[in-house]
Amino acid sequence: MDHADVVDLGRYPIHELDSDRGRALVFDCRAELVDTGVCNLPGFVTDTAVAAMAALAERIADKAWETDRPHTVYFEPVDESVPADHPRAHQVRSAKNGIAYDHIPADAPLRRLYESDDLTAFIAAVLDKPVLHRSADPLDALQITTFRPGQELGWHFDRSEFSVTVMYQQADAGGDFEYVPGLRSADDENHPGVRRVLLGDRSGIRVLPSAPGTLAFFHGEHALHRVTPVRGATPRINSVLTYGERPDMKLNELTQQLFYGRTA
Ligand SMILES: [Fe+2]
Repeated sequence: MDHADVVDLGRYPIHELDSDRGRALVFDCRAELVDTGVCNLPGFVTDTAVAAMAALAERIADKAWETDRPHTVYFEPVDESVPADHPRAHQVRSAKNGIAYDHIPADAPLRRLYESDDLTAFIAAVLDKPVLHRSADPLDALQITTFRPGQELGWHFDRSEFSVTVMYQQADAGGDFEYVPGLRSADDENHPGVRRVLLGDRSGIRVLPSAPGTLAFFHGEHALHRVTPVRGATPRINSVLTYGERPDMKLNELTQQLFYGRTA
C-alpha cells in the first residue's frame, strides 16, 4: 500500500471498505453529506503528511500560477440587462496561486494517496457513484492552492456537483471557508436571497471547520461559498482532488490557460 503513512487508517479504514468499520465510515459520511451538503473528516491525513505537503508547497512556490480576476457568482459573463446589484451583474474577486499536478513530485504524500484506488473507491462510495475516475487532466487532477495575504476566493456556486479538498495549513486570520447551504435549488435560483448575501447579510452563513489534515466533501452547486481574504503572514494551503464519472475528463485549453497559465 502506497498510502499507509498518509491516512490515519485506524480512524478512517479506507483500505477495508467491506469491513464493518469500513461500511460504517461510508454510511456515516454519506448520511452527513446528504443531510448537510458537507462531510468533514478531521485528522484524515496524518500530521507528517500534512507537514510534508505544506513544506512542499513553499519549496515549489515559484511554480505556482497566480490569478487575480473578477467574476460573477455563476462564472458567467456579466448580464448587462439587469441592475448593477443583481447577482447576475455583481462581480466578486478571486485571487490565488495554483500549483499544477505535473509539478507535484510522484512521491509526495497526497499524490500517492490521490493515485491510490483505495481513495478513489472511498470517494465513489461516499458520493454513491457506481463508478468514479480520477481526472485525466495533467494540470488540474490534483493541485495545490495557496492563498497569500490579501488573497481570497469570491462568493460562487460550483459548476460541478461536488468537490473533495484536503487542508494543509490555515491562515493566522481570515481564510475561512464560508457557505450558505441550500441558497438555491435546481428549480429556484433565489436571486433575492443571493443578493442579500452579496450585500453583506451574514444571517445564513456557516463556517466550515478546516483544521489541517481534514478531508472534506462539499456539494457546492446549491450552496453559495467563498474563502475570506487571508490576513497575517501565514498562507492558507490546501489541495483540490478532482474526479469525474467519465475516464477522460479534462479541462478545456481555455480553462487550463486561466488556472495554470499554460496548456499541457
Ligand atoms: Fe467552489
